[in-house]
Amino acid sequence: MLPTPHIESKNKDEIAKTVLMPGDPLRAKFIADTFLEDVKQFNKVRNVLGYTGTYKGRRISVMASGMGMPSIGIYSYELYKFYGVENIIRIGSCGAYTPDVKLYDVILAKDAWSESSFAKVQGGYEGDVIEGTPELNERLQKYADELNIPMHRERIHSSDVFYRENFDEYKEIYDKHGCVAVEMEAFALFHNARVTGKKAACILTVSDNLATKEETTSDERQNAFTNMMKIALEMAE
Ligand code: ADE
Repeated sequence: MLPTPHIESKNKDEIAKTVLMPGDPLRAKFIADTFLEDVKQFNKVRNVLGYTGTYKGRRISVMASGMGMPSIGIYSYELYKFYGVENIIRIGSCGAYTPDVKLYDVILAKDAWSESSFAKVQGGYEGDVIEGTPELNERLQKYADELNIPMHRERIHSSDVFYRENFDEYKEIYDKHGCVAVEMEAFALFHNARVTGKKAACILTVSDNLATKEETTSDERQNAFTNMMKIALEMAE
C-alpha cells in the first residue's frame, strides 16, 4: 500500500492530519523554512516537496499540489486515502474577475464552480458546484478575524485553462455563476474530500485582476502571500 506512486513516505505517521497545499513546491519549502520547527521532509518525488513540522508547537504538514485539477487530484487523493490525512487546505493564487476584489486581497472559497469533467469522470458527480467543508471554513474565518486579516467569502471558478482564446469569457462566468475569481484546483480538491469522507478548504490571494489587467510580480507575491499562510497555519493541531 505505501508508498504510493507519487509520495515516497513509507510511514503514514510522517504526515500530519492537516496538510497545507500551495501549488508551487518552492512555496511549500518557503513555508517549512520560514514558519515550521522540527521539520522533516517526507516527499521529493518529481520535486513535489512535502514537509512535516510544528507551528506554535502544533503539528502540521505542507506539500505542493502542482498546477491544475489532474495534479491536485492525484496528490490529495493519495494523502486522504492512503496516508490518513483528514484536512487539506489549499493556499494558492487567483485572478480576480471584478474590480471589487483587489490585488493581494484574500478569498476564502465558499464553493467552487467548474466546467471541468474531473468530478464526473472521477466519481460520477453530475453537478458543477462543490462546496468547501463548512466546518473548516468557520475555523479559518475565526483565525482570519483573530489575525485582523479581512477575507472575502465567495464562490470561485476552478478552470482547466489558463490561456483562453476568448479572454472576455470571464465576464459571463462572473455574471452567470457568481464566481469572483479564477484558479485551477479547488473543485477537484473539494470533490476528492467528498468521495473520501474527508475535509477541504481553499484560501486564495489575488495575484492578478482580469477586469483591471493589474498584475503582481513574483517577488511581490512571496511576501504578500504570508497573510494567507498565517491564517492556514493556525489549523495546526
Ligand atoms: N491563478 C492566478 N491567476 C490566475 C488566472 N488568471 N487564471 C487561472 N489561475 C490563476
